[in-house]
Amino acid sequence: MTDQNRVYIFDTTLRDGEQSPGATMSHAEKLEIAQMLDEMKVDIIEAGFPIASEGDFAAVSDIAKQAQYSVICGLARAQIPDIDRCWEAIRHAKQPRIHTFIGTSPLHRAIPNLDQDQMAERIEQTVTHARNLCDNVQWSPMDATRTEHDYLCRVVEIAIRCGATTINIPDTVGYTAPRESADLIRMLRERVPGADEVIFATHCHNDLGMATANSLAAVEAGARQIECTINGLGERAGNTALEEVVMALRVRNDIMPYNTNIDTTKIMGLSRRVSQVSGFPVQFNKAIVGKNAFLHESGIHQDGVLKNVETFEIMKPADIGLNAANIAMGKHSGRAALRSKLNELGYEVGDNQLKDIFVRFKALADRKKEVYDDDIVALVQDAAANT
Ligand code: KIV
Ligand code: ZN
Repeated sequence: MTDQNRVYIFDTTLRDGEQSPGATMSHAEKLEIAQMLDEMKVDIIEAGFPIASEGDFAAVSDIAKQAQYSVICGLARAQIPDIDRCWEAIRHAKQPRIHTFIGTSPLHRAIPNLDQDQMAERIEQTVTHARNLCDNVQWSPMDATRTEHDYLCRVVEIAIRCGATTINIPDTVGYTAPRESADLIRMLRERVPGADEVIFATHCHNDLGMATANSLAAVEAGARQIECTINGLGERAGNTALEEVVMALRVRNDIMPYNTNIDTTKIMGLSRRVSQVSGFPVQFNKAIVGKNAFLHESGIHQDGVLKNVETFEIMKPADIGLNAANIAMGKHSGRAALRSKLNELGYEVGDNQLKDIFVRFKALADRKKEVYDDDIVALVQDAAANT
């Protein structure tokens, strides 16, 4: 029996993520990231856009040959040569998928200068062609969130009739909001004949900072695939961040009872590696993977965490593969934090000694924003030499 609450994770770091200006990765780096995503048990890896360049074709093709767990997907415009090239690149995968798309909103229809009927015909031809090549076909109406509902229903119905197995609903310009994101998925599932036969996916951009909320709202309305990238990499303000939706579903499974198959302990390693190879630093206070996401600075917080870590932590650092200490030693740190740090560094100190070191520590912390382990060792040695 299939699990109705299983949410498939579709990672597009290597396609939509790589479209970030300046985020280009080398062939070897793409293979390495794909391998890490495969080991993390991402359900579908969008490996690239094979017709875009020889390099993209080669990367998708090599990733297709190397993947063990993940479905390998290539992107293609609604054009026969794109779809053929895409199939050529992914055909050696254990589980290949063709993802074909076309912009369906009035603004996007104007670009190829197709009227509604002409575009419907193009969708029929291209989805049928893709399905004749591959059993696993994903279709996306680009800019779905700004497409007229009646027309969106019409084209989604065509794509399903022609054999698409996943229907992705992109919020291409990050324009939607959580309630609207949910309503759109619900409306399509209620109105489109055949909707029960396919998986609906949500693909959100973060222009208004709502990508994670919009993706989760879509899941609550019945979407069962989330498209996302590591660190939220992607054009403009980026895509939905994989680490955010996966950890939100895990931490708040009580109110969002949907499951992924992701090995979350691989999150931190992937975040760091993607940041290195893309050249995009992760902001310090980024949810889940930011340098400060598990650090406690104020004395009250540090004291609470030392007594019971759950007072200020809703997830364990180890759950995302982070084993570092969670206390940032600085001017807000109290005696309890200092004692704990000293113990961690191998020093057992009496109360008087702690008092003395604490005075020295505070004086240093006033001068220095963050006090490192080496500073504390020096303070202990200094205190010992001067008593
Ligand atoms: O944002 C978007 O619409 C896309 C499509 C190609 C799915 O990335
Ligand atoms: Zn996108």
